[in-house]
Amino acid sequence: MKVVEFLEYGPPEGLRLAERTLPDIGPSDVKVRIAAIGVNPADVKWRAGMFKDFMPVDLPHVLGYDIAGFVQEIGSEVSNFVRGQRVCAMLDTMKKGGYAEYAVLPSSQVVGISDNLDMAVAAALPTAALTGVQVIEEHIKPSIGQTILVTGALGAVGRFIVHGARRSGCQVVAAVRQSQKEEALRCGAGLAIALGDEEWDGASFDHVADTVGGPDVSSLCRHAAPSARIITVATTPIPAEALPTPPRFIGVHADPERLRQIVQEVVDGAIFVPVAKRLPLNSAAEAHRLVEAGGNKGKIILVP
Ligand SMILES: NC(=O)c1ccc[n+]([C@@H]2O[C@H](COP(=O)([O-])OP(=O)(O)OC[C@H]3O[C@@H](n4cnc5c(N)ncnc54)[C@H](OP(=O)(O)O)[C@@H]3O)[C@@H](O)[C@H]2O)c1
Repeated sequence: MKVVEFLEYGPPEGLRLAERTLPDIGPSDVKVRIAAIGVNPADVKWRAGMFKDFMPVDLPHVLGYDIAGFVQEIGSEVSNFVRGQRVCAMLDTMKKGGYAEYAVLPSSQVVGISDNLDMAVAAALPTAALTGVQVIEEHIKPSIGQTILVTGALGAVGRFIVHGARRSGCQVVAAVRQSQKEEALRCGAGLAIALGDEEWDGASFDHVADTVGGPDVSSLCRHAAPSARIITVATTPIPAEALPTPPRFIGVHADPERLRQIVQEVVDGAIFVPVAKRLPLNSAAEAHRLVEAGGNKGKIILVP
């Protein structure tokens, strides 16, 4: 099968098409013919070597956490999927392997999707959506009526944090770019401010959910209540000096059952996930350049 791999850490140009043999499928596995691959900011960071000192990968390495596609083959013990079924999945975040024509993975990690869900949207969901809902449901755990500052609220993760906060009965203050303020209000924020360009002069935030990091976020976090939880998923740290409580970094974990519910919420129209661009698999380098540049207003999807 065709994959996109990199041989050494470095710039996007290091991503290249290659041929690999598909692993054998075990009794509890499914083989998925991939129709869409979500490109995550983390893919770019793995490729550039940001994690190489503490989480080195075997080289050559095939990136890609998030896939959607069709079940092509099922293991002898698999009874809950059938050939041809439409599915999505978050792959093992250390092994990855999504930039490929096929994936073999445990059936327990796979989630069925309905016929009316665009494969690109399904591939956009797993990592970002699970991260967003886990920030709210597992880490902030807010009470009804509380106010949560959400930074990067219109990003892939941020949208699901806003969604989770609203579902929990909370008010959202979205810290976004100046040009994104109106859209943030349309997407469920009660108030929006331009991160880095506007000061906050309202009441203290009960909690902070951050997807951006850096000194501008730290300035806003000074307005967090002493009892607040400041949860960040950003790889850029929030400077902690003078903050009422230290920021805590959290990592996403696989949760196929919660992903199945999220997929249903997307199908029901409870949350909208924009796809900015679909590119062929062999344009992975271009996809990485777009993600690095930012400002895409949606997810970049690779199509094998
Ligand atoms: N810890 C974890 O497990 C985990 C899991 C998933 C993601 N993440 C991390 O979370 C971050 C967000 O991921 P994502 O998938 O949501 O990315 P994304 O879709 O690109 O969203 C990022 C959002 O933040 C905005 N933004 C960035 N810098 C900003 C600034 N200085 N001021 C205002 N807005 C700013 C972006 O706007 P523009 O597009 O205009 O730049 C975009 O709307 C990434 O760093 C990613 O690696 C961590």
